[in-house]
Amino acid sequence: MEPLLEVRNLTVRFPTDDGLLTAVDDLSFELFPGETLGIVGESGSGKSVTSMAILGLLPKYARIQGSIRFRGEELVGRVDQEMRNLRGRHIAMIFQDALASLNPVHRVGAQITEAIAVHAPELSDTAVRTRGLELLNLVGIPNPVDRYDQYPHEYSGGMRQRAMIAMSIANEPEVLIADEPTTALDVTIQAQVMEVIARIQQRTNSSMMLITHDLGVVAGAADRILVMYAGRQVETGLVDEVFYRPAHPYTRGLLASLPRLDRRREGQRLERIAGQPPSLLHLPAGCAFTPRCRYADASGMCGNRRPELHEVSATHSSSCHFADSLDSRADAS
Ligand SMILES: Nc1ncnc2c1ncn2[C@@H]1O[C@H](COP(=O)(O)OP(=O)(O)O)[C@@H](O)[C@H]1O
Ligand SMILES: [Mg+2]
Repeated sequence: MEPLLEVRNLTVRFPTDDGLLTAVDDLSFELFPGETLGIVGESGSGKSVTSMAILGLLPKYARIQGSIRFRGEELVGRVDQEMRNLRGRHIAMIFQDALASLNPVHRVGAQITEAIAVHAPELSDTAVRTRGLELLNLVGIPNPVDRYDQYPHEYSGGMRQRAMIAMSIANEPEVLIADEPTTALDVTIQAQVMEVIARIQQRTNSSMMLITHDLGVVAGAADRILVMYAGRQVETGLVDEVFYRPAHPYTRGLLASLPRLDRRREGQRLERIAGQPPSLLHLPAGCAFTPRCRYADASGMCGNRRPELHEVSATHSSSCHFADSLDSRADAS
């Protein structure tokens, strides 16, 4: 099967007052039709910069290397107008902050249908309105006919997020990039929004990049997972592989910090990964996770040799030098 989206050796750097910052470092992955790829990593690991690169929304001063292909066509280096045509219609984004994405002075219905009218000018006003109401209904907004003519401030936070999702999917994009779609919401609303996203994906059969700092969010929603650390890919695999046989110490750390009902004991505290991510201005020569890693070797291989992503099974890869011997190393330590 041909990938819909193919990212090859993507590197994004930003010149800053303190030097060149490497936000994304030699990242490669593909997204296949109909699949959901979870992209997981701590804040600052390069997730949003990756999605902005795909959408052509990085600032002009960003230095981009590598290739991003959509249906085989190169996106890196395209002019703004071409990217504008692609955005919304073929690749759409669900942002974290619905309030910032909705315009406070326009009615929600009008904002949702504006996108439709731009890409399908042949539709009559009535047809556009009908489509807008369908979309509100699809994302689970009660009483769409009344809600259609309300302003964003008349919506609750969860409803605004739904309205924004309705806007993103108005043109049935083939690729949906959801960047922390539930991070700003409280837990019960989070679950509802994830349900909406799942329902939409089933209906439209679109592919999705589900970006989050929370492994728990992708557990039920993704087919495959890509774990990022300091701009690099450290592990990728099918959801079950990554959850049940994590092959990178960073992923193991993330999993240990997840609340789990089956091992909760009275007063037991969750493990947190000690330390901080490295400065992206001065990345270490070797594995960027070394200073925080409980498996790292004393001889200095981890600190000195940059690990390459390598297969631990046909569908599962890790960049850890010791991916194949983590369990015995854990026993020894
Ligand atoms: N426009 C920019 N100019 C300079 N640095 C940036 C810019 N955008 C993002 N960065 C930096 O790139 C790194 C990765 O950011 P980002 O992709 O937003 O992380 P996250 O994984 O939390 O989404 C961060 O250190 C961030 O400060
Ligand atoms: Mg982000």
